[in-house]
Amino acid sequence: MEHTPRRVLVANWKMHKTCVDAIDFLEVFIPQLPSLPADVEIVIAAPFTALAAMRGRLGVNHRIKLGAQNVHPQPSGAYTGEISIPMLQELGVTHVIVGHSERRLYAHETDADINAKTRALLAADLTPIIAVGESSDERDALHTIERVVSQTRGALHGLIREAVERTILAYEPIWAIGTGRNCAVADAHAAMTAIRGSVDGLADVPILYGGSMKPENVREYLASQAINGGLVGGAALAPESFAEMIRHAA
Ligand code: PGA
Repeated sequence: MEHTPRRVLVANWKMHKTCVDAIDFLEVFIPQLPSLPADVEIVIAAPFTALAAMRGRLGVNHRIKLGAQNVHPQPSGAYTGEISIPMLQELGVTHVIVGHSERRLYAHETDADINAKTRALLAADLTPIIAVGESSDERDALHTIERVVSQTRGALHGLIREAVERTILAYEPIWAIGTGRNCAVADAHAAMTAIRGSVDGLADVPILYGGSMKPENVREYLASQAINGGLVGGAALAPESFAEMIRHAA
């Protein structure tokens, strides 16, 4: 049976915005929602510190879903500086980015760490947004497909098909993040098709592109059958720009 693929746009605010900044964003963004296509799922992955204020402004069951950018796989314990799933659930968080390349690089997260976080999130009925992507050296050495397939398999290792079906994947070539050097649509299509084919259960899972996606190029990416949305950094910091991207995503 034919069905329309899901469309998902995720704002990854990274280490930007205080509580005040986050609420200022929402005050401009929320009034635009009625003019945005209803079938695009909207997630804002904010810093931990802004989540409670945002939840207060959005209330329950809002169209805008709250995301976090990281989580610890244990529910509680002696892990100084970490944030657990129950802490996020209390704030109404429904999505969590795991395996972002900045966490793989700066926090030395491994595929095994990302697998543990993914399993814990799924067990708690939260949606992991699992980021994979190759470095520019790996791309030059023609290892892109091998790299993203192994990261995807590592993140989803040991999960049953029904669990895999509840994830979201994001292909983010590292060299395209925050650089303005966005990946050619055909190359993104090839990597994302390989990701989709790498694990049983990914056939209908949204796979997002990330890396210098902006209002000017979002339509081009989403015209590809393999690309179901975006994980957006810089261009999602301004409410007008993020809204414009959602408008183009229909
Ligand atoms: P960018 O970041 O859109 O600023 O390139 C994307 C990301 O890192 O998720």
